[in-house]
Amino acid sequence: MENIPLTVVGIALVAALASVLAVRLILRRRVERLTLWLRDARAGQKSEAPRLPNRGLLAPLVHEAETLANDLVRAHETAEQEARLRQLGDSLWTAKRLAEHVRVKLAKRPLVVVSNREPYRHSRRGGRVECDMPASGLVTGLEPLLRACGGAWIAHGDGDADFSVADALGRLRVPIDNPMYTLRRLRLDPAEVKGYYEGFSNEGLWPLCHIAHTRPIFRATDWASYRQVNEKFAAAVLEEIEGTEEPCVLVQDYHFTLLPRLIKEKRPDARIALFWHIPWPNQEAFGICPWQEDLVKGLLGADVIGFHTQFHCNNFLDTVDRCLESHIDRAGYVVKHDGHATVVKPFPISVDFPEKSKEDPAAEVRAAREQITREIGVKVEFIAVGVDRLDYTKGILERFRGIERFLDKNPGYCGRFTFIQIGAPSRTGLTAYRDFTAEVEAEAARINGHFKNGGVPPIVLRMKHHSHEEILPYYRAADACMVTSLHDGMNLVAKEFVAAREDEGGALILSRFTGASWELRDALIVNPYDVDAIADALLAALEMDPDERALRMVRLRSTVRENNVYRWSADLIDELAAVRLPAPWASRA
Ligand code: F6P
Repeated sequence: MENIPLTVVGIALVAALASVLAVRLILRRRVERLTLWLRDARAGQKSEAPRLPNRGLLAPLVHEAETLANDLVRAHETAEQEARLRQLGDSLWTAKRLAEHVRVKLAKRPLVVVSNREPYRHSRRGGRVECDMPASGLVTGLEPLLRACGGAWIAHGDGDADFSVADALGRLRVPIDNPMYTLRRLRLDPAEVKGYYEGFSNEGLWPLCHIAHTRPIFRATDWASYRQVNEKFAAAVLEEIEGTEEPCVLVQDYHFTLLPRLIKEKRPDARIALFWHIPWPNQEAFGICPWQEDLVKGLLGADVIGFHTQFHCNNFLDTVDRCLESHIDRAGYVVKHDGHATVVKPFPISVDFPEKSKEDPAAEVRAAREQITREIGVKVEFIAVGVDRLDYTKGILERFRGIERFLDKNPGYCGRFTFIQIGAPSRTGLTAYRDFTAEVEAEAARINGHFKNGGVPPIVLRMKHHSHEEILPYYRAADACMVTSLHDGMNLVAKEFVAAREDEGGALILSRFTGASWELRDALIVNPYDVDAIADALLAALEMDPDERALRMVRLRSTVRENNVYRWSADLIDELAAVRLPAPWASRA
């Protein structure tokens, strides 16, 4: 030690000090990086792990810190996911949740549903009796209510084997394989069907309420028949609720305008709601009906009247204001007439929204595409679809002309694009509907003749009833779905298309004159009378940036998921349960 010069000792000391400082600095940086990472992890932020040596003094600490940070991030993710699911669970309505809800809300009060169409129809096919269930939003939304309460559904029995499977009063328990409620079928004679259903309902009220430029026909004989059938249904409802206390009655649609008052007069303790499935036009338009006062008075027998949109509620209040002496509370949307109060509210109807059914929705889309290509017999790059009842309100001819304009403006799409129109025959007893079907066929033939390109017809017609399962592959295979109604209360095709696109693909072209356009803001909204607007929307749909298409579909799907048909039913039932009955029933209200 004595022989070592002082300078060497000094250098060694300085070097040792420098090493200590360097190690300290390195350690400090590493500890800082580790601390920051842990802090991020504690906050639930997944940041990249710092690259730290896995050897040496700090290795065990680094290993522990890594495990801890990963655990923290995972715990945060799990908590977030649970919160999301809880939130979704709270807002999502299912058939099961609806059934439980209605049991609580109605507190054992009996429930009766009335509609023109029945939920089950028996028909004779090849010597056998078969039972069909129509694919309808109404049945999907209302059946869980009856399944939960075991009430009764009263409807027109129009199946040719309907009465052979029912008792003398037209009653049978349904669903057939697991009976839960009573279906009561009413028999209408051909003159009643002609006057009440075809005549006043579908040649009078239908064109009156849909502004589609088809003249309504008002025949006094049809009106008499309509009144008679409403009385027949009222008598059946009164029989079903006889001996019960505070029954609840849910009436569906424009076929039964007079029913609420007929029931209320006899049973003031009944809670009655009527849901109007079609638009309510402005008061000038409605005012041409010679019996508007009777119709409005009949409706105001209900405690609750529902429309799809606020706009239709407003139109209804304007009509009431115009034709009746009444008090209208425009803030609370309550009409007081003849000592009775009616709440008028929007309840937008919807569809069931199945959660993802397939592991790989994109594979399902590819399979659907192959199936549809095989079916139509031509291979095309782009497919658009339309699904409608063959009804003059649906804007099918306007849609075809929009497609023609699209191909005229964008000839590069000829031979690469086809539009498939599924058209379900409807109300075929009426001349206006038969004429319309012939016009659809002629217009498709004319346009197909105009573009003889590469053997690919621009328009393919599928003119028959398709079940929901048969329609699904068309929705899935489509680059675009076209809904161009001239006027429509809601339009469930738009919502069905969205519900079917688990792959988050496809674009929706939607008429601004549908109730659905108030909710589905991420569709390409068009005026169906504007041929160029349809053509341009089709081009936009086919050429849309994939990210934008997916973003729009994600938003559309979340709207339909949260506002599904079970929520529609639950909201109606809530409103009905909240009705304040007059004394002596007021105490239970
Ligand atoms: O949109 C009104 C509506 O009554 C629907 O409820 C029904 O799906 C459709 O019209 C079909 O009418 P119809 O019962 O006359 O075939």
